[in-house]
Amino acid sequence: MITLTLNNGVTLPTIGLGVFQSPPEETTDAVAEALRVGYRHIDTAAAYRNEREVGEGIRRSDVPRNDIFIETKVWVSDFGYDKTLHAFEKATGKLGVDTLDLLILHQPAPTRFDTTIAAYRALETLYADGRVRAIGVSNFMPHHLDRLLAETEVVPAVNQVELHPYFTQPDVQQEDAAHGILTQAWSPIGGITFYPGWGDGKRSVMDDPTIGAIAAAHAKTPAQVMLRWGIQQGRSVIPKSVNPARIAQNFDVFDFELTADELTRIDALDTGVRGGPDPDQPRDAFFDVVIDEA
Ligand SMILES: NC(=O)c1ccc[n+]([C@@H]2O[C@H](COP(=O)([O-])OP(=O)(O)OC[C@H]3O[C@@H](n4cnc5c(N)ncnc54)[C@H](OP(=O)(O)O)[C@@H]3O)[C@@H](O)[C@H]2O)c1
Repeated sequence: MITLTLNNGVTLPTIGLGVFQSPPEETTDAVAEALRVGYRHIDTAAAYRNEREVGEGIRRSDVPRNDIFIETKVWVSDFGYDKTLHAFEKATGKLGVDTLDLLILHQPAPTRFDTTIAAYRALETLYADGRVRAIGVSNFMPHHLDRLLAETEVVPAVNQVELHPYFTQPDVQQEDAAHGILTQAWSPIGGITFYPGWGDGKRSVMDDPTIGAIAAAHAKTPAQVMLRWGIQQGRSVIPKSVNPARIAQNFDVFDFELTADELTRIDALDTGVRGGPDPDQPRDAFFDVVIDEA
């Protein structure tokens, strides 16, 4: 298992299983299957409404809890010092664990940044108390990070952002690196460019001819090439699948290497256009979605 070392010395497996849009009834099986084939990192979120099933999948596997890196996210409606402390209790209650390996803010709330800061201060308390082994953020752009770094003490260990060949966010990657923050790629195989309801009318990176040609040259799939590109550039990748064959395929990326030229050709595919929501756009109705108690 290849790992990355976070800025506080904690190690994180390079590949994790994502579970956004994994239906609760399929999540337990997907998590248990991923652990069976060798994954040791699961990325969930309160807002995915499947933390319970992630916990069930972990318990169903033979892998000891301490060998698994569990990452989850606090949703915006739970931002605020006391509310975020309580969000930790909700998450651990649903997952059925005492501690978390990584707890991150799901995204900045541009119109309520004070509550974003208060939420992060709660993460700092949980970290100081040993309830979480590392803390971080998601969907933070450089100006969000600047403000967070100015107003809080603990530098985030991770910034999880949209990152696939069509949207590589070099400014975010540079800012993260400058502060020792690990960039973690969501939609690392470009899910946001093709999954139903989100990808409509967009070009799917999965069908990109450059990626297809590189995949053919290595007798690998486009998904494997995109994961390898992320890993070789030092990112954490968290591909989602509920399909056993694809779960295994996405983990089978340690037996080939992309050349410097291939990495450059993939970098050149960046369109600068994000597939997902702009973190600076307020989405108050969505932000206010209530997260259930444990
Ligand atoms: N922080 C955030 O705001 C945020 C936003 C989005 C995602 N995330 C996290 O990042 C994880 C990954 O991102 P994502 O789910 O958006 O996209 P992704 O992992 O890039 O792509 C997932 C899609 O690809 C399909 N797929 C999986 N493996 C495949 C393969 N080998 N070949 C072809 N298709 C394949 C999946 O379907 P099947 O399940 O049918 O295989 C699913 O439709 C999420 O699950 C979540 O944990 C975070």
